[in-house]
Amino acid sequence: MYSRIAGTGSYLPEKVLTNHDLAKMVDTSDEWIVARTGIRERHVAADNEVASDLALAAGQRAIASSGLVADDIDLIIVATTTPDMVFPSTACILQSKLGISGCPAFDVQAVCSGFVYAMTIANMFIVSGQAKNALLVGAEVYSRILDWNDRTTCVLFGDGAGAVVMSASEEPGVLATKLHADGGYADKLSVPGWVCGGKTIGSPFVQMDGGSVFKFAVRVFDEVAREILEAAKMSVADVDWFIPHQANIRIMEATARKLKLPLERLISTVDRHGNTSAASIPLALDESVSAGRIKRGDNLLLEGVGGGFTWGGVLVRY
Ligand code: ACO
Repeated sequence: MYSRIAGTGSYLPEKVLTNHDLAKMVDTSDEWIVARTGIRERHVAADNEVASDLALAAGQRAIASSGLVADDIDLIIVATTTPDMVFPSTACILQSKLGISGCPAFDVQAVCSGFVYAMTIANMFIVSGQAKNALLVGAEVYSRILDWNDRTTCVLFGDGAGAVVMSASEEPGVLATKLHADGGYADKLSVPGWVCGGKTIGSPFVQMDGGSVFKFAVRVFDEVAREILEAAKMSVADVDWFIPHQANIRIMEATARKLKLPLERLISTVDRHGNTSAASIPLALDESVSAGRIKRGDNLLLEGVGGGFTWGGVLVRY
C-alpha cells in the first residue's frame, strides 16, 4: 500500500503588498529586495482572517480536486506556525469548519519544514492502514508575527495556504521521506515570546540571523536531497520537479546548482508569494498542478528547512 497525492488546492488572501508599498513603510527598495531574495510581492490576510480560514479555502479546493467530499477525510494535519489560538489546534478548528467530526486532527509545528513533516506523518498513517484519505494543509498568517518596522524581516514573508489530499493507493506515491532537526540552532530563527499571566513575555515578532539561515539552508537542502534519492535508489536525473521551501530564490538556485539540477526543473513562486513558511511548498505544488506543468507520473522532490532548525524532504510520484 502506498499513499498518493489525490488532489491539491490553495488560497491566497486578496490583499497584495508590493515591494514598492513596503518602501513607503521602511527604509528599503524594490531593487534591494529583488536582488537579495527574488521577492516582488506577497499576500497579506485581512484583519478578520485567521489561519483556519485560509486552511478551509485551500482544504476545500484540495478535497474537490481529489473527487472526494469532506466526509471521506479520516485524518487532518495542519502545519502552521501562526495558529488561530494557543489551543485548540487549528486542525480541530478546520475540522469543525469543514463540517466533519470524529477523525484525528492535529497541528504540526516544524516552522517552514512543517509541510514535509505533515506529509511524512500522513504517509505513515496511510501505509500502516490507519487512514485512507488524509487532508494536509500548510496555512500561515506571518503578517501577525512580523515587526513592520524591522526591514530585515518584514520584507521576507507573506500569508497563504496550500493543501493536499493524500489517499491510499496500490500505485506509488510517496517513494522516500527524511526528516531532521537540530534544536541547537533555536536562537537563529525564532519568535521568542509566550503568553504568561495575561501578558506576552519576550518578543512576539520573528527574529532571524539571516546569514546563518542562508548558509544552513543551502547545505542541508543539498544533503537531504542526496539522502532521499539514495533511499529511493534514484538520481537527480529522475527528479522531474524540485519544489523547495520558498524562502529566497538565491537559496533555491544555489541548491539546484549544487545538485546539478537544471533550473527549468526548479519550481519557484517566491517572487509572488514571498516566504509563506509551512504553506509555501503546497502553494507552489498546487499552482504548478493547476497550470498543467506537473503531470501524473512526474517525480517531485519537496524539501523544507526552517526554525528549530528543522529540515527534511519527500520524494513523491504525482
Ligand atoms: N532593505 C534594504 N537594506 C536592508 C534590508 C532591507 N529590507 N534588510 C537589511 N538591509 C541591509 C542591512 O542592514 C545591511 O546593511 P549594512 O551592510 O549597512 O549593515 C545590508 O542590507 C546587508 O544585509 P545582509 O543581512 O548582510 O544581507 P544578505 O545579503 O545576507 O541578505 C537576507 C539578507 C535576504 C535576509 C538573507 O540573509 C536571507 O535570505 N537569509 C535567509 C533568510 C530565510 O530564508 N529566512 C526564512 C527561513 S524559513 C523559516 O523557518 C521562517
